[in-house]
Amino acid sequence: MSRLVVVSNRVALPGLSSAGGLAVALQAALEETGGLWFGWSGRIDAQESGHLHEVDAGNIRYVTMDLSKRDHDDYYNGFANRTLWPLLHFRVDLVDYSRVTYAAYRRVNALFAEKLAPMLRPDDIVWVHDYHLIPMAKLLRELGVSCRLGFFLHVPMPSSDLLAALPQHERLFEGLSSYDLIGFQTERDLERFQDYVRLFGRGRVISHGVLETHKGKRLRAGAFPISIDTAHIEAQAAAAVNKAGVKRLATSLSGRALGIGVDRLDYSKGLPERFRAFGRFLKRHPNHRGKLTYLQIAPVSRGEVLEYQNLRSELEQLSGHINGAHAEPDWTPVRYVNRNYPHPTLTGFYRLARVGLVTPLRDGMNLVAKEFVAAQDPQDPGVLVLSSFAGAARELDAALLVNPYDLDGVADALAAAMEMPLAERRERWETMIALLRRDDITAWRRRYLAALREPSADA
Ligand code: G6P
Repeated sequence: MSRLVVVSNRVALPGLSSAGGLAVALQAALEETGGLWFGWSGRIDAQESGHLHEVDAGNIRYVTMDLSKRDHDDYYNGFANRTLWPLLHFRVDLVDYSRVTYAAYRRVNALFAEKLAPMLRPDDIVWVHDYHLIPMAKLLRELGVSCRLGFFLHVPMPSSDLLAALPQHERLFEGLSSYDLIGFQTERDLERFQDYVRLFGRGRVISHGVLETHKGKRLRAGAFPISIDTAHIEAQAAAAVNKAGVKRLATSLSGRALGIGVDRLDYSKGLPERFRAFGRFLKRHPNHRGKLTYLQIAPVSRGEVLEYQNLRSELEQLSGHINGAHAEPDWTPVRYVNRNYPHPTLTGFYRLARVGLVTPLRDGMNLVAKEFVAAQDPQDPGVLVLSSFAGAARELDAALLVNPYDLDGVADALAAAMEMPLAERRERWETMIALLRRDDITAWRRRYLAALREPSADA
């Protein structure tokens, strides 16, 4: 079988214990055929972008590239995370419009392509990940690369009118047509992209999942909902209850129920709304006061970006406010923590929880929702309160689905979760875990790669 090449901004270098389920899955895919993983080194070079590092581990080669401070600021903090990230999460109000950062985005993508192209063989299969690298295929083709090129968008594809608010939208999104296969998280994302192609992209939808550009080039697009390593998380969570940190959390609850949220500190996650909804729950359902402790773990993310700094201040204020208003001498309603925890510990925390709170305003998929389900005790599962604006809601429709903007609705869902009888909790959980056991991360990458290996839409 042809060699696999994975390209992503972040590369999970071997030996890093923090590698999440996605990184492990991609590593497994690379091991099957032997392969190459290419992307940013995570390092800033004092001089210039372009210095490469190579590491071999088994039959996988990792090649990563340093970025200069300026390129990192303008490509990663700038166009990727201050323009594309908010745009793709429907937040046109937060989009930064800058020609300077767009130029850096193109420059860094071009440099990645220039370094990668000579390493590629004609029969390689190249799989590019996420919004940082949309122009890669076009740039590689311009350098004469002829091998199969696939793209997977981990984040949502917004409505076409929103995409059209980006001054460079035509050039950027037409570039996607140089891929042979574009993968989205859900059918809705695929449909919105097809609308874009028709309404703004000068292309045609030949049939569902087969597109044609105005120049007559055909490509395929599909929904490939990403998943988790379900069996591994089930086992990990069962074992984690014996960990010291998990036991300490259990003891500290003094018999109260635990509600848990784990999110990167990002405005797409709906954290201020979630905090407010929890405050609303305490007011609307006074019978539950003092019975549920809400632990929000929110490691700082993209901390150099202004919008993320503002969010951090807002959450500090809100958590202080809710605790000030509702705490008792022996009970703190909100425990708000900015540090990260090892993955096994988190799965132990999930298993302790009566309620999992996953209420993003928009999310491509949200793997915390899936992990929360997989981590539950089958005999006494907790309840997932899930935003219907997370991609995961399409599959996990046995969760309590909420509109994260509707604070009363989220507050009532929390009360329903607290009151839900065991039989209903088990029934809902069994529906969800059956799906996650079947559609796990291995099934996801196999399905995508099988589709990418199929003959192209032009053939
Ligand atoms: C999201 C994106 C990923 C990104 C991750 C962490 O899940 O889809 O591409 O790697 O967030 O963000 P960071 O900026 O730290 O890479």
